[in-house]
Amino acid sequence: MQTPSGHPVESTSATRVVVLASGAGSNLAALLAAHDDPAYGARVVGVVSDRPAAGALDLARDAGVASAVVAPADFADRAEWDKAVGDAVAVFHPDLVVLAGFMRILSPRFVGRFEHRIVNTHPALLPSFPGAHGVRDALAHGVKVSGCTVHVVDAGVDTGPILAQAAVPVREDDDEAALHERIKVAERALLVETVGRIAREGLHVVGRRAVIGR
Ligand code: GAR
Repeated sequence: MQTPSGHPVESTSATRVVVLASGAGSNLAALLAAHDDPAYGARVVGVVSDRPAAGALDLARDAGVASAVVAPADFADRAEWDKAVGDAVAVFHPDLVVLAGFMRILSPRFVGRFEHRIVNTHPALLPSFPGAHGVRDALAHGVKVSGCTVHVVDAGVDTGPILAQAAVPVREDDDEAALHERIKVAERALLVETVGRIAREGLHVVGRRAVIGR
């Protein structure tokens, strides 16, 4: 099958990962750097973005990974857009959907379609500072330690069961950009490790507990 990017949808015996990204895509880049090793166990087979100018789309193209853009402006309302995002993801037959800097909220319907198969990375230590400005909100609160969280997505905003977290100390002179850059270094490593473990060992979600392992 062809996708809008023109690349064919790949077939692979690895765990099929679809990445949703709105921005530069440094987390996507880290997954793409890991996925060529068969021992890693996961492979990015598709990238979906809401923004035609997202750097993540350039990364996908350069890696030969199929991609699609589903921009809200092209749809009559939010529900139609949300359904189209789900359809674009489904084209790639994902085992796992990774939200890596996807800056829009997906509906409970989308979450239900890929239930317990969606993970998100967030630049704060949840459940503190959810939402679109996690780094800014943590700094404004005056925390001394922040970090990042990889969690299973449920119907709420950044509320799903936590899979992994890494702490990043806040420096006296940090501004949002400086702290976010250091968090992103930890975040990339945590996301790559967590996705690989899910691929190799499996993921089980029971209530608020998300467990990697068989
Ligand atoms: C990441 O830090 C991610 O946690 C954050 O956006 C950044 C994307 O960076 N996501 C959120 O804030 C979602 N609430 P990237 O485009 O370089 O991967």
